[in-house]
Amino acid sequence: MSLRFLTCGESHGKGYLIILEGMPCGLAISKELIEQDLTRRRRGYGRGERMKLEKDEFEFFGGVRGGFTTGNPIGVVLRNSEWEKWRGAMDPFKVDKEEAAQKAVTRPRPGHADFAGMAKFGFEEARNVLERASARATAAWTVAGAICKTFLIELGITVRSAVTSIGTETADLPESDEKWAEAYSSDMGVTERNMEARLRRAIDEAGQSGDSLGGTFAVVVKNVPAGIGSYGEWDRRLDGRLAQALMAIPSAKGVEIGGGFELSKKPGSEVHDEFVLLSDQWDRGSNNAGGIEGGVTNGQDILVRVALKPIPTLKKPLHTFDVQTKQGATAHVERGDVCVVPAACVVGEAMTSLVLAQAICEQFGGDRMEDLKGRLKEHIERTRRMLHA
Ligand SMILES: Cc1cc2nc3c(=O)[nH]c(=O)nc-3n(C[C@H](O)[C@H](O)[C@H](O)COP(=O)(O)O)c2cc1C
Repeated sequence: MSLRFLTCGESHGKGYLIILEGMPCGLAISKELIEQDLTRRRRGYGRGERMKLEKDEFEFFGGVRGGFTTGNPIGVVLRNSEWEKWRGAMDPFKVDKEEAAQKAVTRPRPGHADFAGMAKFGFEEARNVLERASARATAAWTVAGAICKTFLIELGITVRSAVTSIGTETADLPESDEKWAEAYSSDMGVTERNMEARLRRAIDEAGQSGDSLGGTFAVVVKNVPAGIGSYGEWDRRLDGRLAQALMAIPSAKGVEIGGGFELSKKPGSEVHDEFVLLSDQWDRGSNNAGGIEGGVTNGQDILVRVALKPIPTLKKPLHTFDVQTKQGATAHVERGDVCVVPAACVVGEAMTSLVLAQAICEQFGGDRMEDLKGRLKEHIERTRRMLHA
């Protein structure tokens, strides 16, 4: 059975329902890890007022008993602490016409889903669109991803992320476990305090002029066994699956694996990671491939970078038109952020964890944790023998 998750819910609705299907039974679930990732998703200098209001209260609904997965679909409810304030406009059955009219969005924001979504469904205003297109849904993805991350940790695989740039300011990728821990606890998702200060300044400047900023983040997966994924069909290639999952993050506009776009400028002799003999094991001298060759992991760290555009809701709104009056207008302003890169990188960890957990479950069988671990161990030992000189 393939591992997958579905969500339902709206940004200002009652909350989100998350169903994660296909997780093997016998996995110990850590509520703390889910809480930590939800807290990290809310982080970041330059986040809007909503981050202070949101509480991310969640409750397990099914699929976990006594702290362990049962093999049944896992259900989690993530509540919206502001639901009562929005009930009048958002109630499933009794919508108050006046409140709904106040919340109507008739001036679509360039860069958001407002206009495209209205065109898709023929809506007269965009409230239904932004309620579902909103990146609030990434809190639900973070819950599902944190469970997948727990599964990977159990197999000895770590998925971590760090911010690598905001606007034109760049930050280095962490190089040691200590540095990763720094990035993990940093409000900006970076290692050093002076990098934090530079990035904050860039956000302050954008915020003061009513603007927003994008950036890049990287996800690094360590201790991934070689041979996971497939080259057999286009839609089974692991690099393609990662790119799809990461590109689905709202405001993601580019995904690169390993050396990515830079590799296109170099000759093959400088790009491909040669096999070198390290004591009695064959290994690689570099990792330009980002840990994936032919859609299959090669035993090196997986390295994926994601580029995010600046978010579309600007305090100094862009030019648009009013769909009802057909007159030129300034775009709708919804309470919002200036920069979401530190938050988005946590969502990147979640989506990477999902894809990798899916591929492992498909390959090693997904019913019982113990059986899966046994089969994975055999696989790792076979690969080690293959690389032994
Ligand atoms: C964590 C996170 C928070 C976001 N917050 C906002 C926000 O406050 N305001 C906004 O306009 N866009 C925000 N976005 C981006 C929009 O959701 C996104 O641009 C929009 O859904 C259109 O999708 P697209 O940019 O992928 O085309 C956020 C994105 C992420 C990942």
